[in-house]
Amino acid sequence: MPKLGVNIDHVATLRQARREQDPDPILAACICEQAGAHSIVAHVREDRRHMQDRDILILHKTIKTRFNLEMSLRPDIVDIACAVKPQQATIVPEGRLEITTEGGLDVVRHRGRLKKVCGQLQKNAITVSLFIAADTKQIEAAHDLGIRVIELHTGAYARACVKRDGAGELKKISTVCAFARKLGMTVNAGHGLNYSNVRPIARIEGMEELNIGHSIISRAVFTGLEAAVKEMLGLLSSSFVQRGG
Ligand code: PXP
Repeated sequence: MPKLGVNIDHVATLRQARREQDPDPILAACICEQAGAHSIVAHVREDRRHMQDRDILILHKTIKTRFNLEMSLRPDIVDIACAVKPQQATIVPEGRLEITTEGGLDVVRHRGRLKKVCGQLQKNAITVSLFIAADTKQIEAAHDLGIRVIELHTGAYARACVKRDGAGELKKISTVCAFARKLGMTVNAGHGLNYSNVRPIARIEGMEELNIGHSIISRAVFTGLEAAVKEMLGLLSSSFVQRGG
């Protein structure tokens, strides 16, 4: 079955609403791991709207599964990643005015900068993943840079699902996933995935890991975090049975 990475940024968003100590994303990470999550995802944004530097430092020491740090290409953020050395860094585009990561990284356009930053991260034994749209040109560009892990942006699929019209976007993701796998790449996906739209994505052959935040943390408000993570894991494993695993 595809692995589940839980993005805990929204726990920190709630804490930052008061700028006090609760709820603590460190505790959230522990609960997610105990519930069976395969990795913990956190995004240190340039404006520190949710995760703080202290969170990143402690998470690295406490996470027992795998720490996947989402980050932009800004030099001070790259310095933090190189100092902390999470197991994985996922490079995302970051817009100051966006509410969440709206699009995929333009690997073709930022090739030079990416080459330098990916080299720095890899020198620190950090696996690099690029968050990109389901577009073969972007995948080829990532592959040319020596990148072997990508995360496909599922935001367009999630938006289409709201209009009950997800089939086209699903096909695109599935085709592009097969293309990247043929190039020998590991394919993950995430953004906007929830309890009602995740299964078709989880059934895609070769999909390695799904990174999910908002829907799990939202459900946790009502059911508790452990139950919310377990419920999502249940959906992933039943999808895998359906794909014949
Ligand atoms: N993957 C990446 C690279 C992201 O930037 C995000 C959003 O922070 C997610 C996954 C999780 O998205 P969502 O919160 O919509 O589940």
